[in-house]
Amino acid sequence: MKNITLLSLAAAAVLFTACGEDAKKAAAEATAKATETVKETTSNAVEATKEAASNAAEATKEAAANAVDATKEAAAEAKAAAEEKAAAAAEALKERAAAATEAAKEKAADAVDATKEAASNAVEATKEAASSAAAAVAGSDDLAAKGKELFAKCAGCHGADGKTKALGKSAVIAGEPAEDIEKKLHEYKAGTRNVAGMGMLMKGQVASLSDEDIKALAAYIASLK
Ligand code: HEC
Repeated sequence: MKNITLLSLAAAAVLFTACGEDAKKAAAEATAKATETVKETTSNAVEATKEAASNAAEATKEAAANAVDATKEAAAEAKAAAEEKAAAAAEALKERAAAATEAAKEKAADAVDATKEAASNAVEATKEAASSAAAAVAGSDDLAAKGKELFAKCAGCHGADGKTKALGKSAVIAGEPAEDIEKKLHEYKAGTRNVAGMGMLMKGQVASLSDEDIKALAAYIASLK
């Protein structure tokens, strides 16, 4: 507007004083000056506009950069928070798993202990049973062996298997209950038994036998089948 006003003033000067060379010169000078001023002013305005535009562009860039930074920061924060949560969850899971494992181990250890104890008791019981069975077998073996040895002098009349009727008179003695045989032999030794008139003969057979010998003989004869 200022430029236009100056230009108008110059033109008016030319119009109203349009007489004579001086006036023309002055008018031309004024016009040239005004034109210069307009040019300068325009150039300044252009410069100012350019600067303003450049400043605006700069500001926009900076704002954009700031926005990007802020976004980055927010994203980083969100990521960190998410990582923290995940880590906490993992920790909690680990703890639970560890507790479960511990409990399972304890139970297994208890079971193993119980099994060990039961096994050890069973072994102990088996050992005891085996040892008493062995003792019983050894005892009866001893007795049977002794009875077999003593029976050698009886075999001539009663038979090696005890199934002969001695001198055709006695009963078959093989397989009779041991306590019956034992009782009869004691009676022969005491001279109180005489079934077929041969009691005295049998008394002679058993006179030198001890109680233990009689027991062994009875056990052996009872075992003959
Ligand atoms: C010389 C033959 C002879 C010899 C050896 C002999 N016995 Fe006898 N035994 C007899 C006769 C005979 C009788 C029947 C006695 C009677 O009349 O009670 C008899 C009876 C018995 C009986 C009772 C049978 C019954 O159930 O009535 C027994 C047990 C017996 N003898 C065991 C023996 C033994 C053990 C020996 C060895 C230590 C032996 N005898 C040796 C002849 C013999």
